[in-house]
Amino acid sequence: EDEPAEEPAADEPEAEEAPVVEAPPVEEPAQMPSQPLEQNGTANVKLDTLILVNKQIALPAGYKPTDLVTANIDFVDTASGERRMLRKEAAQAIEKLMAGAKAAGIDLKGTSAFRSYDYQVQLFNAYVAKDGKEQAMKYSAPPGHSEHQTGLAIDVSSASVGYQLTQSLEQTKEGKWLADNAHTYGFIVRYQRAYEAETGYMFEPWHLRYIGVEHATNVHKTNVPFERYLEQSMN
Ligand code: DAL
Ligand code: ZN
Repeated sequence: EDEPAEEPAADEPEAEEAPVVEAPPVEEPAQMPSQPLEQNGTANVKLDTLILVNKQIALPAGYKPTDLVTANIDFVDTASGERRMLRKEAAQAIEKLMAGAKAAGIDLKGTSAFRSYDYQVQLFNAYVAKDGKEQAMKYSAPPGHSEHQTGLAIDVSSASVGYQLTQSLEQTKEGKWLADNAHTYGFIVRYQRAYEAETGYMFEPWHLRYIGVEHATNVHKTNVPFERYLEQSMN
């Protein structure tokens, strides 16, 4: 019978090795897509986590991401089933964000993550019935135009505002923590007050969009709407 390969005894000191001098990391520019953002008003899904969806650009009909998983974070009770799901990479990132928040004494819960086309139909129609289409369009995306359908967006809120989606989240320590830290986990606060004219949506301090740490950090630093970041970076 073969003896197992010899292992160093536990009490043996480790062999001294010459320290490996590592070259300083080369600053690589963030990978930008060499792809069109859209074609005839339809989003380019090949952009993957950089996919651009807005009032002008819709997801392809019937779009549903294939790698949705339940995000293992606290959600409000009204969020159930698919609405606790995100694309895998975004789910892992929000789990890290929530752990970081908790460590900083910040209490946040998810209120709505993935939303199917059909669910967005219901939601948008309910808002139109309540506030009229013109008003509803300022805070709710028409079906096919919501980032929530990409599986890369999640709304979060805190006990300090009763877990409501309200702009007053901005003034709470939780809202401030999000504004200052979300990018370090790969999320941007997608709809800023300063972008209202450009995005067509009112300020949503609760709506986080996953684009990866590198891009989120760039967007945070340059403080431009995501569409402008993509357009500028590709020129
Ligand atoms: N509230 C954002 C705009 C959405 O409905 O996707
Ligand atoms: Zn949202």
